[in-house]
Amino acid sequence: MKGHFPIDKFNALRTPFYYYDTEVLRRTLACIREESSRYENFHVHYAVKANANPKLLAIIRESGLGADCVSGGEIQASVKAGFSPEKIVFAGVGKADWEINLALDYGIACFNVESLPELEVINELAAAKNKVARVAFRINPDVGAHTHANITTGLAENKFGIRMEDMEHVIKAACAMKNVDFIGLHFHIGSQILDMGDFVALCNRVNELLDKLEAHQIRIGYVNVGGGLGIDYHHPNRQSVPDFAAYFKTYATHLKLRSYQTLHFELGRAVVGQCGSLISRVLYVKQGANKQFAILDAGMTDLIRPALYQAYHKIENISSESPLQTYDVVGPVCESSDVFGKAVDLNEVHRGDFISIRSAGAYGEIMASRYNCRELPIGYTSDEMIEMEG
Ligand code: LLP
Repeated sequence: MKGHFPIDKFNALRTPFYYYDTEVLRRTLACIREESSRYENFHVHYAVKANANPKLLAIIRESGLGADCVSGGEIQASVKAGFSPEKIVFAGVGKADWEINLALDYGIACFNVESLPELEVINELAAAKNKVARVAFRINPDVGAHTHANITTGLAENKFGIRMEDMEHVIKAACAMKNVDFIGLHFHIGSQILDMGDFVALCNRVNELLDKLEAHQIRIGYVNVGGGLGIDYHHPNRQSVPDFAAYFKTYATHLKLRSYQTLHFELGRAVVGQCGSLISRVLYVKQGANKQFAILDAGMTDLIRPALYQAYHKIENISSESPLQTYDVVGPVCESSDVFGKAVDLNEVHRGDFISIRSAGAYGEIMASRYNCRELPIGYTSDEMIEMEG
């Protein structure tokens, strides 16, 4: 089954562009709200890194989610979209001084700190402003996730977080500092996780650490388990909204949260992934030695996931109902890796047909580059399309 697209409106637009179906986004957000509010103390933040398009940020903010940022730029984008600083958390292994100062000036909810040297700098910069920064430590839980190696983050070999064995030492250091307030722990094991068992493994590890802290009479109110819930790239229509019920229930069942603790989530892909498609036109159909190529006007500069992670995205010819033929679907960029899919069955392709590359709402537009001096793709919402002259 193909997606539903307002092709009559597409005719007037320059391709490639991102098309965001706000009905899918709103349904996703409603599901997050419904399923997370079953549990007291669950707070969901949107991981802005997945997509910082201002029109999407505004819709996400309206739904009541907080924001998880990894740069000063993301903090600025979130504040501009109306997120209240009390709902902004700030992570990242390499926070620059200006970014820390910006976050201190806004008075964000929490810095997710990834090393002792970073903690020292936050303390120093907060002291200079006569402020106290709330900090949580990102602990590397050494829990693997069954996902692509490039997007696994919770293993001991990754650059992220503080080693478990260093946790107590760093907490002691924080308690001795005047301008930081140690409030809790932060984790994130990876992205595009579909096996709930991976989250159970994280819960078990967090339980161990919470017990350890309690044994040392260290009381923390804030526990942040990051994001990572995956989406169904193969069936964007059948499962347009991820299984948030199972996701939140996994944490509610397996994490031994104390009554005074709040549990925070940082979901990116699961929020915006399915609402976005990259729309392009076919430039040429070219016959190769033993295959045919559909050459699109979109390339790896618009959506880098297939080239970078060998990621699968469903590809559809939304202009044709002709019988299927097999194509390698490629872009115009001067790199052999500029391939969206090999041996893809598409309704027979002609120059000018619209091709949709589905499930591209997360880590699509935001990762676009200007390589080959190409223009950045524009993002349109379905709401805007309705208003456009057709
Ligand atoms: N929290 C932290 C600390 C993170 O590092 C990430 C993602 C998230 C939350 C959100 O994770 P999500 O819910 O979206 O899985 N560009 C890659 C994904 C990189 C993810 C980086 N960290 C991709 O296109 O697959």
